Amino acid sequence: MSGDQRALAAQRMDAIGTTAHYDRRLALYDITVSRAHVTMLLEQEIVPVDAAAALHRALDTLREQIESGAEPLDPKAEDVHSAVEEYLQAQLGAEAGWLSTARARNDLAVTALRLWIRDQVSALGARLLDLVEALREQAERHAWTVMPGFSHLQIAQPMSFGHVCLAYAEAFLRDAERLRFAAALQDESPMGSGALAGTGFPIDRDSVARTLGFARPTANSLESVGDRGFALDFLSAGASVALNLSRFGSEIVFWSSQPVGLIALPDELVSSSSALPHKRNPDAAELMRAKSGRIMGNLHALQTVVKGLPLSYFRDLQEDKEPLFDTADTLALSLDVAISLATLMEPKADAMRAASEINFLTSSDVADRLTRERGIPFREAHHLVTRLVRLAEEHGCSLGALSPESRRSVDTRLAFEDWRDITVEDSVASRDSQGGTAPECVREAAAHLRARVIEFTARGTEKNITAHEVGGHR
Ligand code: ARG
Repeated sequence: MSGDQRALAAQRMDAIGTTAHYDRRLALYDITVSRAHVTMLLEQEIVPVDAAAALHRALDTLREQIESGAEPLDPKAEDVHSAVEEYLQAQLGAEAGWLSTARARNDLAVTALRLWIRDQVSALGARLLDLVEALREQAERHAWTVMPGFSHLQIAQPMSFGHVCLAYAEAFLRDAERLRFAAALQDESPMGSGALAGTGFPIDRDSVARTLGFARPTANSLESVGDRGFALDFLSAGASVALNLSRFGSEIVFWSSQPVGLIALPDELVSSSSALPHKRNPDAAELMRAKSGRIMGNLHALQTVVKGLPLSYFRDLQEDKEPLFDTADTLALSLDVAISLATLMEPKADAMRAASEINFLTSSDVADRLTRERGIPFREAHHLVTRLVRLAEEHGCSLGALSPESRRSVDTRLAFEDWRDITVEDSVASRDSQGGTAPECVREAAAHLRARVIEFTARGTEKNITAHEVGGHR
């Protein structure tokens, strides 16, 4: 084998193996974990007092440098954890080596990553609540704004625009729960698992777990170092957020299309066409919808990496970082866009009302009325109204304009006085079952949602004690 080939092989190994250039965003998390580890080693009298003090000082200095924007870590190091070790080595010499007592990169890397995810859950959760609030405010403003309700994208029944906003608010509040649940499931500290089998040093895993804000240490060292279930749970909850954002994006694209024309979007969230000057393309909503692709892909990517791996750490697991970082960053961006869309979309009340008044939109209300007021079983009432609609079409009139005679020709029970058209407002107001679209229900649901958001926040178990990277962006 020639020296050239070996040099090339080393280069290629570097290229496929080094990650410090992107995983250095975990540096502060490594420092937090390392500091807690040193504190425990000192308390347990495993390391000399002087060495512990020197390590604490060096770790604190490193933290300050990173926080002030300096880049003291070598981006060419194998990964961020090696980079921190190399930095400490350069500062302290051999004394730095005490830090590696009773730990391995396996338990360190996975603990730092869990802390990072915890911060992301807080940051994304806060954005989700802002989105819920923006939708809730629209619902309060527009409880009485009547629009066509669609099913199969066919105009089905009139409804309150506020009701539709609350529908998305429900989905996003549940996503906030889902993210929180993913974090709660990983509320355990892997530190002390070592490379795979634990350690012979008299460590105190509870103490490290407490310092880091975890509920407890993990139960099994072997499982801890190779488990990425916590990362998959985060990616899965993130995929659910993305999925709901994509649906919301689609709805906005549809509503804003000219022949539909139910909402207006601000100039800032649309783009003009390069070829067609009259167009206002809803690019923000489309991109928000499209970003969901990579977020769902990230879940699939890591599932595929982990699938088939036996217990313990394999280098394969290093491939967890990029999907996680990308999901967190893409979601933060997409949620910010969703908040702007939800806040600034303007329903066009007149267009909404006009679109709700297509012929016979309230025919099901007529059937309801026949059942409620005339004691006709609903299925039969439905058949009768179908025939009345056909008759009205023949006469070119509304249902309310059908004469008693023509109604009697369908069924004698239909020839009663007080026969009238049911307006879209009557129709919307009548659907006052719990969770229904009646404006009063929408108002109540919006108030109740506010209380639920407050309760969700108060119940918050998110620990922000690390909070090194709460923006979601690098
Ligand atoms: N960069 C590695 C990762 O993220 C750290 C763990 C390294 N452990 C090892 N045995 N090589 O997975």
